[in-house]
Amino acid sequence: MEHLQTQGISLPRLGLGTFRMQGDICRAAVESALGLGYRHIDTAEMYGNEDAVGAAIATSGIPRKELHITTKVWHENLAPDAIRRAFDGSLNRLRLDHVDLYLVHWPSRNMNLPAIFETLLKLKQEGRTRAIGVANFNLALLKTAVEQIKAPIACNQVEYHVMLDQTKVAKYLAAKSIPLVAYAPLAQGRAASDETLISIGRKHGASAAQVALKWLLDQDSVAAIPKTSRAESQRANLDALKLKLDDEDRKAIAALPKDKRFVNPGFAPGWD
Ligand SMILES: NC(=O)c1ccc[n+]([C@@H]2O[C@H](COP(=O)([O-])OP(=O)(O)OC[C@H]3O[C@@H](n4cnc5c(N)ncnc54)[C@H](OP(=O)(O)O)[C@@H]3O)[C@@H](O)[C@H]2O)c1
Repeated sequence: MEHLQTQGISLPRLGLGTFRMQGDICRAAVESALGLGYRHIDTAEMYGNEDAVGAAIATSGIPRKELHITTKVWHENLAPDAIRRAFDGSLNRLRLDHVDLYLVHWPSRNMNLPAIFETLLKLKQEGRTRAIGVANFNLALLKTAVEQIKAPIACNQVEYHVMLDQTKVAKYLAAKSIPLVAYAPLAQGRAASDETLISIGRKHGASAAQVALKWLLDQDSVAAIPKTSRAESQRANLDALKLKLDDEDRKAIAALPKDKRFVNPGFAPGWD
């Protein structure tokens, strides 16, 4: 598994997303993924599954230093004392003494970004998170974080897949050597039934979902965190790394409509 080096951490380029999985289903999915070789798990306090992720990690027997665990603070908890409480809760539920990456899950309209990063940096200095980062930051917010506040963010986690253009944000991140972590990398499963991807996959003996993932992972400094509860799909998503797309495939994918954003809650500042 390839890794991206960022702000002192080594981020496996393919991770397991866990949104909308809870309890025993989530625990079993994470156990299965760890058994198959996944070492990067993405969770969040908002997902209500950190306890299940923690239980799976605890029984895995995998040395902690081989794992990369990301969790996130929800937009309602962005005041400094609320971040600390949220973080303590996350660590307890995960049964860990540190996470690898702690992200601002969504920006909120009235957030105080300097105070947020000061609090996150203290958690980093205390060794309770190895790195800090953001999610759902548009270009304007990214520029504020990186150029004004000079926050050492290890990633921006954003929706990115074959049906959505992220050129502006991706170019900015690349110029600053900050990885882009693609969430909903399968367009929430829709990529699996896209006719263009199916026909590209047929050519290579691969599935449409594998084509969608490899298109992302062929891009420098991009990681992806597809979610699946099924071991078969977890294995297929890992196997996507072996696929070789050619110029004709890339041209066909580039021609797909790229205006399909599937995640966009009203409370966050809009995308430009
Ligand atoms: N930071 C944020 O604001 C944010 C927002 C959204 C998501 N995320 C993170 O990103 C992760 C991924 O996003 P997502 O879960 O929304 O969407 P996704 O990963 O694009 O799609 C998940 C769907 O794809 C299906 N699937 C997975 N692998 C497949 C395969 N090989 N073949 C066919 N179908 C497959 C899954 O079905 P089955 O489960 O039935 O297999 C599931 O229905 C989340 O779980 C979460 O960790 C972060």
